[in-house]
Amino acid sequence: MKNVVILISGRGSNMEALIRARDAGELPVNIAAVVSNRPDAAGLETAARAGIVAHYIDHKGFPGREAFDAALAECIDGFAPDLVVLAGFMRILSEGFVRRYEGRLLNIHPSLLPAFPGLHTHRKALEEGVRIHGCTVHFVTPALDHGPVIIQAAVPVLDGDDEASLAARVLAEEHRIYPQAVRWFAEGRLRLEGGRVRLDAAQDGDGRLIAPVIR
Ligand code: GRF
Repeated sequence: MKNVVILISGRGSNMEALIRARDAGELPVNIAAVVSNRPDAAGLETAARAGIVAHYIDHKGFPGREAFDAALAECIDGFAPDLVVLAGFMRILSEGFVRRYEGRLLNIHPSLLPAFPGLHTHRKALEEGVRIHGCTVHFVTPALDHGPVIIQAAVPVLDGDDEASLAARVLAEEHRIYPQAVRWFAEGRLRLEGGRVRLDAAQDGDGRLIAPVIR
């Protein structure tokens, strides 16, 4: 079973969705650890309650990005991860860190990338007046909120939406597509090849190919 380390900075609802999927038998991974860059991240307690090793490394204790990223990588590598999952991890990672985990580093972003990288995506979507918004799971590359797209989900922007209502509609989709992407990786069907996403069809018991099903 593949080892997964999840990085968070706050609430950790995407992390919870992954734990739920694992507990439901829908995600065959070992969640080896949850690591936060903030000591007060609520998700740390949630992880500990679920019996998962939960650590924090306070980025404020480091002189700069490289030093923090080195400490973070050392901690992560102690769990021998096959996959590192950014789940609301609100730190820009150095190029060295990203390269170290190339092809095994995923992120979820609350917009239909390449639209609205960065923060306040729901506000930007409302300001732009788009009618369709959503979320994206992608392999992480050194460019912020950029990188080969694995799966996206779209939601309508409704008259009368505010940031909170739109965020909630998108978040429900995040909780659906992140476990799906991690499951593909866990099944050995998802990989980064020459900068492109490759997703193999699954095989049934008789070796017949089944196209990826997105619920
Ligand atoms: C999510 O919207 C995620 O896409 C973004 O930050 C938020 C984190 O939420 N990167 P949570 O901590 O997973 O609840």
